[in-house]
Amino acid sequence: MPRESIVGSGGVITPLAEPPAIIRDMVHDDLSMVSDIERRSYDFPWSHGVFRDCLLAGYQCVTLIRDQRVSGYSILSVAAGEAHILNLCIDPEFRALGYGEKMLDELLYRARAANVRDVFLEVRPSNSTALGLYRKKGFHQIAERPAYYQASDGREDAAVLVKKLVITS
Ligand SMILES: CC(C)(COP(=O)(O)OP(=O)(O)OC[C@H]1O[C@@H](n2cnc3c(N)ncnc32)[C@H](O)[C@@H]1OP(=O)(O)O)[C@@H](O)C(=O)NCCC(=O)NCCS
Repeated sequence: MPRESIVGSGGVITPLAEPPAIIRDMVHDDLSMVSDIERRSYDFPWSHGVFRDCLLAGYQCVTLIRDQRVSGYSILSVAAGEAHILNLCIDPEFRALGYGEKMLDELLYRARAANVRDVFLEVRPSNSTALGLYRKKGFHQIAERPAYYQASDGREDAAVLVKKLVITS
């Protein structure tokens, strides 16, 4: 059964902002709305099939539901004490409302619950909005991957960021 929650509260549906929004596990029926947001958000979007494979692979696939519509999503892979944020995206119509930060909080909650020590991600150095969010949440750059991303004029490097989590138990 899909899990619905406000960040970290485990099963309680609570408004995040106005109008009320919830975060819950992604299901297959969400994929067309997810793909639509993806196409409107990235120059080189993931295909519908990539999202389907993420669900099939058992990654932590999360959606933000606002007015009964998917308005954001994120994908987290977890293995061997490490987590990797593979995608985090908010519908362009609903940005700068705090949803991206709530989604990231949810991913960090899920990573902690899985006893993850380090959360990694790649981001384009030109993506100042995402960098602003990740830095605010305590991520810092540890490396660069040269020519990692497709770009309109060739390739773009990736900045590799990490956040160390404190394991309390
Ligand atoms: C990155 C993204 C998820 C942020 O989501 P959002 O809902 O707009 O962000 P929030 O409203 O939660 O903002 C949280 C923090 O992000 C940072 N931020 C948000 N918009 C910003 C901007 N335009 N410039 C710089 N920093 C910004 C700020 O630190 C902000 O905190 P503050 O409001 O206290 O200043 C969203 O812009 C998005 O979906 N972008 C397209 C997809 C993408 O690039 N994903 C990241 C791939 S690695």
